[in-house]
Amino acid sequence: METPMGPQSVVWRENRHRGIVCAVGWTSGDETVSVGDDQAMLRWSLGSSECSAVAQMRPGVFPTAMHWFPRVAQRQTPVNDVFLLSCTDGKILLVTATGKVEKTIEAHKGAVLRAQWSYDGTGFVSCGEDGNVKMWSRNGMLRSVLASTGRPVYGIEWSGDGSKVLYCSGEHCFIKVLKTQMSAIKWKAHEGVVLCVSWSSQSGLVVSGGEDCRYKVWDSLGRPLFTSGPHEYSITALSWNPDGDLFAVGSFNLIRLCDQHGWSHSLEKLQTGSLTNIAWSADGTQLVASCANGHLLHSHLVDRHVWWSNLEAIQTKRRTITVKDVKSEVARETVELRDRITKMALGFEHLVVTTIRQCYIYSSKNWNTPSIFDLKEGAAILLLLCEKFILLVDGSSMFVVTFEGRVQAQIKLPGTVVSGEAITTRTTGISNDTVVVRDRADPKTVHLFEALTGKPVGSGKIVHQCDVVEVRIDQCGPAMGRKIALVDANADLFVGIVNTFGESQRLLKIGAPIHNIHFNSTNNMLAGLQDTSVLVWTFPSVVFADKQLLQRTTITVDGGGNVSKSPQITNFHGNHVLVRRADGALVDLLVAPFFGGLVEFVAESKWDKAIKLCRLAKDDALWALLAGCAAAEKNFYAAEIAYAAISEAEKVVFLNELRRETNPQMKSAQMVAFSGKVLDFEGALTRSGDIFRAVMTAVAMFQWDRALDLALRERAFLDIVIGYRQRYLKEMGLCETDKRFIAHLSDVEIDWNHIHEKIAEENAKTRH
Ligand SMILES: *[C@@H]1O[C@H](CO)[C@@H](O)[C@H](O)[C@H]1NC(C)=O
Ligand SMILES: *[C@@H]1O[C@H](CO)[C@@H](O)[C@H](O)[C@H]1NC(C)=O
Ligand SMILES: *[C@@H]1O[C@H](CO)[C@@H](O)[C@H](O)[C@H]1NC(C)=O
Repeated sequence: METPMGPQSVVWRENRHRGIVCAVGWTSGDETVSVGDDQAMLRWSLGSSECSAVAQMRPGVFPTAMHWFPRVAQRQTPVNDVFLLSCTDGKILLVTATGKVEKTIEAHKGAVLRAQWSYDGTGFVSCGEDGNVKMWSRNGMLRSVLASTGRPVYGIEWSGDGSKVLYCSGEHCFIKVLKTQMSAIKWKAHEGVVLCVSWSSQSGLVVSGGEDCRYKVWDSLGRPLFTSGPHEYSITALSWNPDGDLFAVGSFNLIRLCDQHGWSHSLEKLQTGSLTNIAWSADGTQLVASCANGHLLHSHLVDRHVWWSNLEAIQTKRRTITVKDVKSEVARETVELRDRITKMALGFEHLVVTTIRQCYIYSSKNWNTPSIFDLKEGAAILLLLCEKFILLVDGSSMFVVTFEGRVQAQIKLPGTVVSGEAITTRTTGISNDTVVVRDRADPKTVHLFEALTGKPVGSGKIVHQCDVVEVRIDQCGPAMGRKIALVDANADLFVGIVNTFGESQRLLKIGAPIHNIHFNSTNNMLAGLQDTSVLVWTFPSVVFADKQLLQRTTITVDGGGNVSKSPQITNFHGNHVLVRRADGALVDLLVAPFFGGLVEFVAESKWDKAIKLCRLAKDDALWALLAGCAAAEKNFYAAEIAYAAISEAEKVVFLNELRRETNPQMKSAQMVAFSGKVLDFEGALTRSGDIFRAVMTAVAMFQWDRALDLALRERAFLDIVIGYRQRYLKEMGLCETDKRFIAHLSDVEIDWNHIHEKIAEENAKTRH
């Protein structure tokens, strides 16, 4: 788990511009470039705190904003180390990294206020004082005028997939869907002119700031999620970090860091005048801001915490991490690295840290001699751990690495075309055997790779019917049963089996509307948020063994009014689900400890203990969990007891049969039937003349039509079929509407004593 805290800021005082710094942007790694009203273009090396002049722009160039050609797109066409410079005289300049003006574009009347490359670098959009919003080709040919608002447009941003453009004008924000004739979505955002907007390509959230001295968070349809209190001065700059979970807010002499719920993590008072622009580094660990008084503000995130079990690691300085054992406050270790830290992860007795050059792997048993290896690109953007491996994304490459620092596999990511979203912890997962990654360009597709070899698993992918927003993979149990869980854009939660050996049906829906899912790493329980409650699927795979048990094994942990709107699960540790509320407070919700205990017993095949625990707890959901586990593990003895306890008599009968079956062929057929493939099995039974069991199988599987057919054809067990049917309808709160059943209702008298006797009789008959 990671909590970002306050940014530590360093403000340069030397070599500063004479006059306002108008724009700033990142070249690569540790370097930024700024341009000011003094026409100087300066290069700042942040590692060594050096600043040098690159070029002097021609007199009369007064910039308003800068945007560098996107880094991902640069890999395809490496010549594009250029940026767009918007100027007050209505021109947009295409400038190289050495300060050469490649192209001058007459773009707007009055000042150009902003120009933004699309994420794939195929074009850009611009806006200006003239109220126009324009779209341009890569080389600066006008493609279209998207809007003419009549009032200055201060901010413009692309959506992550490049299909929409957000802009603001007056008190309103607009979202224009490209390639349609539809007019833009429009909403009133502020009580005053909107001065800045930022749109996260990751979370899809919008943040806006204005002359009313507030900033607000919106969803991608413009629905309000958060409104800040009023500040003393206008909000002049806003920027989402690359992960889309934090944004920076700039105002006069002030910078703030907020999470996606708007909650402010830190506030820093400055002596800089207004912040004119804010830009994050690609790895999200630093930001720079241009300041009206000629300074360049440079902040890096420190006080980042990660914790695992009783270990906690805190990044205290740019190159320093302190690790402590929470249980014994005494045991403290400090690790110093040679270069600036970019990512860190803690888990499974290891601390893994990446810097701008290397990756360090520390064992918690030995903090002195880490395994170290060099990073190819030095641009770690993701670090995930499972018990066996580290998953590292370095720039454009993905690696599976052992804790000894050996590269086990390199994964070739399909669909990593230039556009597309960054890879994040929400859309990537690793377990001992499998790596799962959502496609960057096509969010409907999820890729599966073998962790050992980096090769695709089976067909290598699952294509869902709509966009996937979250993916998780479970951690324990054999690789054969490995599951993924995913949440799609409709907030539907699905689970799927990784290894299906060629079968196509992979995903089954288990809940809605759900977001923010987490697997527990030691018992495969899955937690997710539904509105303000936490739901725990104590045994998600039960959906593959006995679908009817899914609801019964799902428990709801009510926030009891303590969890308010838009919370987030931050951790599922032991029996505690830690939820961060929208206001930032942490709420600890307790899952009854029996569930974890039961899963442990089952994992160790201690069925008697599991049954005892259920008897002790007397909880229906616990019995249902046992029934599901037992069915999945094919322990029919425990399943029979558990199903009896939750009054699923027809299943008990069926299981009873199963347990006593001596014919191995029949037994395996029954197992198949129990996992839902009932037709083959019934056929086998009727052929062998065992009508009772065929009827009971149909009943157990709720195949009412077949059960009735059999009973009518054989003129037997009609009361059993109709009795169970009625009970089933009653439980479901339904009335009989099936004409065939209504027609036969008067043929029988439902006497449960008689039915039970008959069942016992039949059981006795087949016992020998
Ligand atoms: C995962 O790998 C670790 C280390 O090799 C091993 O101890 C653990 O049992 C594995 N877990 C599973 C579920 O295979
Ligand atoms: C709500 O929070 C308060 C204070 O933390 C706690 O005393 C109370 O038990 C909580 N209520 C529920 C239902 O969790
Ligand atoms: C899962 O639960 C176990 C015990 O129930 C706990 O020790 C472990 O930390 C949990 N894992 C996660 C990732 O929360």
